[in-house]
Amino acid sequence: MSGNNFLIAPSILSADFLHLADQIRLVEESGADWLHLDVMDGHFVPNLSLGPAFVAACQRATSLPLDVHLMVLDPEPLLEAFADAGADHLTIHVEATNQVAQILDHIHRLGLKAGITLKPATSVSSLATFLPDVDGVLVMSVDPGFSGQVFLSGAIERISDVRHALDELKSNAWLAVDGGINAHTAPLVKEAGANVFISGSAIFKNPNGIPAAIKALRTSLA
Ligand code: DX5
Ligand code: ZN
Repeated sequence: MSGNNFLIAPSILSADFLHLADQIRLVEESGADWLHLDVMDGHFVPNLSLGPAFVAACQRATSLPLDVHLMVLDPEPLLEAFADAGADHLTIHVEATNQVAQILDHIHRLGLKAGITLKPATSVSSLATFLPDVDGVLVMSVDPGFSGQVFLSGAIERISDVRHALDELKSNAWLAVDGGINAHTAPLVKEAGANVFISGSAIFKNPNGIPAAIKALRTSLA
């Protein structure tokens, strides 16, 4: 559905859970490319969100790829449940485990795409050894845990650093950004080299409605 090479991934955390099926249908009809699902364990981040049953429910409501962002400590025991639930991508935090390479391999053995991400305070260099093995990198532009936070502008330089590292490896991995993304911040991170734009409140809580919000985001990336 994308009109250009940039992918828009609405983050379901900001959706109206009482009308989830309608909201998912609306983002799909409005040209979203992926659905982003935030999994939080109350330990790695100070919030609890959704689990495999929720992912499975979303899977029944859409044909969009399900991009699952695991904000959990020691995610390995959960990988299979999310794979069974219909996740297409599993992105893990580099800070959440000391078994990163093993977990990326496990995700691949489950037949899914494997992504890596990091908190704003974590050095981009901590990703270096894993970049050859990932299908995607996610640069957080807020401290993970909550939607509706303000974009941290330090993410721009971090995205550009990751972009250079991926280009040096001739990697086709996606480069996503998550946190405070709207029609004003998206063009800045696009310039820095991001190609996947995860956005929660700017889409689901937009006073102009979901279709207009996605259109505005798409226009800002043209
Ligand atoms: C934050 C989550 C984000 C969040 C984005 O921990 O990873 O996906 O839902 O929401 P906005 O776009 O409102 O910052
Ligand atoms: Zn997220």
